[in-house]
Amino acid sequence: MSHARTPTTARQATSAGPLPRTIVTGASSGIGRALALELARRGVPVLAVARHAEPLQALADAHELIEPWVADLSRIDEMDGLAAQWLLRYPDIGALVNNAGIQHDLRVDDAGYTAQDMRAEVELNLLAPMALTRALLPHLQAQQRAWVVNVGSVLGSCPKRTAAVYSATKAGLDLFTQALRVQMQGSPVRVVHAVMPLVDTPMTRGRGRGKIPPDVAAQALVRGLLAGHTDIRIGKARAAWHLQRWAPGLLARMLRTA
Ligand SMILES: NC(=O)c1ccc[n+]([C@@H]2O[C@H](COP(=O)([O-])OP(=O)(O)OC[C@H]3O[C@@H](n4cnc5c(N)ncnc54)[C@H](OP(=O)(O)O)[C@@H]3O)[C@@H](O)[C@H]2O)c1
Repeated sequence: MSHARTPTTARQATSAGPLPRTIVTGASSGIGRALALELARRGVPVLAVARHAEPLQALADAHELIEPWVADLSRIDEMDGLAAQWLLRYPDIGALVNNAGIQHDLRVDDAGYTAQDMRAEVELNLLAPMALTRALLPHLQAQQRAWVVNVGSVLGSCPKRTAAVYSATKAGLDLFTQALRVQMQGSPVRVVHAVMPLVDTPMTRGRGRGKIPPDVAAQALVRGLLAGHTDIRIGKARAAWHLQRWAPGLLARMLRTA
């Protein structure tokens, strides 16, 4: 399959029009970095958030529409204050992409895998998107059009052997996204679930086959958003979704050993 034709899918589809200023979390690397650049290239101002200042500054230097913001999103108690600072500085914020994530590629009974490691995965992958969404919602609901985009994984519906907690966080994020979408019906806020296949980033370094480049994943995500899609399954994530419906045993066997 050609990368340029990486497919996306949608359950609801209405035209999205141009996107407003967008917060991209986890923008210092991988998919988030590619997404920030893709949005900026399309004229969308981006607030690029992550912990490491240096790669964020390099990203901001690469495009004038990208502003860096250093923050540790695992500090859940600080999310309200962080959102307030963002809105004070950038009152035109209209979209939040919850992309920052970590994965410990370990079995639960692995001696080196601690309860703190588990907490870190749950806090960043699940609690942070929920807390940030909660903090920004009153502002987003007051916009003419706004977006909350949660970056999910195929592993959120079919877990991998060595990523039980990560898979659980992505499953939780999927259900949170679905519930929020119901809550936001009739409001200007579109709630989007973007499901990634295996993407070639630092998170997947040294493992997996058939990975797609992060810029290809980012382009597919932005195309889906601009087309008004709310369930965006990128590349093999779409095939996985069909497999799960029609041959769940086969998909489980494939992913268990991925
Ligand atoms: N790669 C894949 O195959 C794949 C597949 C399915 C889903 N996904 C999802 O796609 C998203 C991006 O993954 P990726 O592959 O691009 O990973 P990545 O290259 O490792 O990037 C992760 C990003 O998260 C940021 N981050 C980590 N801890 C943070 C914290 N405490 N506070 C703020 N930012 C933090 C990192 O920046 P700092 O270290 O500078 O903070 C980095 O920018 C994740 O949600 C991941 O679960 C990826």
